[in-house]
Amino acid sequence: MPQPPIIGAVIRALVRRFGPAAEVVEVERCRPAPLPPGHVRVRMRRCGINPSDLLTIAGTYPVRTPLPFVPGFEGVGAVVEVAPDVAGLAPGDRVLPIGSAGAWQDEKVAEAAWCFRVDPALSDDQAATSYVNPLTALLLVDGYAAPGVRVAVNAGASAMGRTLVRLLERRGVAAVALERDERVPAGARLDLAFDAVGGVEAEALALALRPGGTLVRYGLLSGVQPEIARTDVAVELFWLRRWVHGAGRPAIEAALARAFALVREGVADSEVAACYPLPAIGEALRHAAAPGRRGKVLLRPG
Ligand SMILES: NC(=O)c1ccc[n+]([C@@H]2O[C@H](COP(=O)([O-])OP(=O)(O)OC[C@H]3O[C@@H](n4cnc5c(N)ncnc54)[C@H](OP(=O)(O)O)[C@@H]3O)[C@@H](O)[C@H]2O)c1
Repeated sequence: MPQPPIIGAVIRALVRRFGPAAEVVEVERCRPAPLPPGHVRVRMRRCGINPSDLLTIAGTYPVRTPLPFVPGFEGVGAVVEVAPDVAGLAPGDRVLPIGSAGAWQDEKVAEAAWCFRVDPALSDDQAATSYVNPLTALLLVDGYAAPGVRVAVNAGASAMGRTLVRLLERRGVAAVALERDERVPAGARLDLAFDAVGGVEAEALALALRPGGTLVRYGLLSGVQPEIARTDVAVELFWLRRWVHGAGRPAIEAALARAFALVREGVADSEVAACYPLPAIGEALRHAAAPGRRGKVLLRPG
């Protein structure tokens, strides 16, 4: 029996089973969700596709998101409706609704407490990539990179790798940037290494540290957990999500203001490879997974 049309339907991406994103992400039409107290309706304009989205969809993280869910941790949109008890946000405000998945849809019903106004000087493309990587790079550099340290960064072609290197340069630290399968020059005796890859590349970075040096692991692009045999170096894990959920709103606002400034100045700006309408998400996900891609693949809801 043909289904009756849904009045005022919106489109959303949906994951009903874990697996490779290009195979398991579906697109469906649905009724707009109701607006509970404390929430705002955000009409999404641009969303990023990040490795953390793909890992969540694949079910790789130790704590899996309950199925079914709308993916997407990063995106920008405009507030179109505000619950009566919400103060400080109004229709027309351009915000990043962060702190939960759900960016990949026409309308995200988001907690007002997790919506952050975006710098009006940023384009939608810039705003859609102004949170996850810029904030992570800032926190990593603030937390670990003292002036004069000898540092290497792998996944040097990634948006994060490029932002990290530019931010380190800004602080007067010249970083060795390693692209896929490149190794640190022999005898480097690094003070610090940032690892986004894991596996043998993380192991090689650990071997290039001086005794007492620090390996900061913040990604697992290879999908392989490294085995770090050295006991004379520190190995630390960084997860933006953990910081964001513990930091409190004033600290997030302050960090975002710094991230927006860095995006404006081109230090934390991400190249954009392509932008696909939300219904073409399958094509977008295949593009995002293509080797040698330069720049972020974005989605355009609405
Ligand atoms: N811990 C956190 O909170 C946090 C926050 C932000 C980002 N991250 C991590 O940072 C990493 C980079 O994210 P992104 O958004 O910048 O990625 P991205 O630009 O969207 O793309 C990943 C890049 O990594 C390269 N790559 C893929 N597999 C690789 C491998 N096995 N070895 C070396 N390079 C590989 C690819 O370049 P080629 O195909 O040309 O090699 C691609 O350019 C990811 O692991 C992500 O999870 C972590």
